[in-house]
Amino acid sequence: MLNQKTIEIIKSTVPVLEKHGEAITTRFYQLMFGNHPELLNIFNHANQKQGRQQRALAGTVYAAAQYIDNLEAILPVVKQIAHKHRSLGIKAEHYPIVGKHLLLAIKEVLGDAATDEIINAWAEAYGVIADAFIGVEAEMYEEASNQKGGWDGFRSFVVDRKVQESDVITSFYLKPADNKEIAQFLPGQYISIKLEIDGEEYTHIRQYSLSDAPGKDYYRISVKREAGTPNPDGKVSNYLHDVVTEGEILMVSAPAGDFVLDTQKNTPVVLLSGGVGLTPMLSMLKTVVEVQPQRNVTFIHAAANGNVHALREEVESLTSLENVNTYFFYDSPTEEDRKNNNFDVEGYVTQDWLVKNIPTVEAAFYFCGPVPFMKSINTSLKNIGVPQDRIHFEFFGPKDSLEKN
Ligand code: HEM
Repeated sequence: MLNQKTIEIIKSTVPVLEKHGEAITTRFYQLMFGNHPELLNIFNHANQKQGRQQRALAGTVYAAAQYIDNLEAILPVVKQIAHKHRSLGIKAEHYPIVGKHLLLAIKEVLGDAATDEIINAWAEAYGVIADAFIGVEAEMYEEASNQKGGWDGFRSFVVDRKVQESDVITSFYLKPADNKEIAQFLPGQYISIKLEIDGEEYTHIRQYSLSDAPGKDYYRISVKREAGTPNPDGKVSNYLHDVVTEGEILMVSAPAGDFVLDTQKNTPVVLLSGGVGLTPMLSMLKTVVEVQPQRNVTFIHAAANGNVHALREEVESLTSLENVNTYFFYDSPTEEDRKNNNFDVEGYVTQDWLVKNIPTVEAAFYFCGPVPFMKSINTSLKNIGVPQDRIHFEFFGPKDSLEKN
């Protein structure tokens, strides 16, 4: 436990570090990757280039520091990050490396303002925060490897089937190479895929939501081809689309994530997705009709048009059920879409439309999609009086904020 003096130093210097937050973490990454280039096998290079991970780590260290005398209060946040860390294979021995370089960067950026007293206080605080993560992650590793069909780290899976779902989305059905059992998952969870790309020095790890219902002998991911190379964002997805074929081996970590459908509740549920944000929502939809067949479900999916609308048959096959309502929104429908009545509403999912069509503001709301879609849905739900504890969402990539611009 930190003494009162240290806690005071930490709390009073949080605003200073926040002010220099991005400069410190940018320098931190430069120093850390300089001394430990092997960590480039774990970190997402695209996130690095866009500065998203810089913001994520800086923000969390300062947020945690503000709660340094009561870390319990931010346990849900720690758990959510710990899921991601466990899925990536972050271990206790990585924490001192991050701590050392973070302190070096703080010292460098703050210069004379960083007295020994301040640096020592932050070293202690980082140790406490790191221990909290390490403890939660240790439990998660144990759980992942002890459950039936579970495993620790990355396991070989064969691409059993590769199915094109739209112009931009392709599904991969993954079966374990050892033909043994696979761990169950909760609808909404994701797996990490570790890829070695020919000619690349470091491995790439990406998370993909599982798009089918649990209980199968395979995991299915449905991957959107992101804007192409040289944009590093698209490197992995283009490789999966263009190079990885049926029969090939992919390295997969056990399912993780806390954005999951609560099947203990019986309230109506509203699932909203934009684009490839469809994947966790489809898993939730298929699960709810299987395990809670009486539950009222509203499934809303927004896509540009029929050419990029994936997995529609799977959703449509459930629309005959009395308690399932589905709505497809296209903002740029083609002539073909109009001729075939491929969509229900032209345009975006608006607050007015939600007011008129959702069963009740007391429903449980889950959503996933591009950030502008999520911001708009989040604002609409708040405006129409949906209580905060009924709003659940998932970002692709590092967590961001829906509140700020
Ligand atoms: C992701 C915080 C330690 C590697 C993240 C995220 C946060 C975070 C907020 C984003 C989570 C998300 O998007 O869901 C922290 C904090 C740490 C810490 C506060 C220390 C107390 C570490 C360590 C490593 C590490 C020790 C490994 C050396 C990663 C990686 C990602 C990540 C690889 C995925 C994002 C990317 O690849 O850019 N961390 N982290 N973190 N963290 Fe940590």
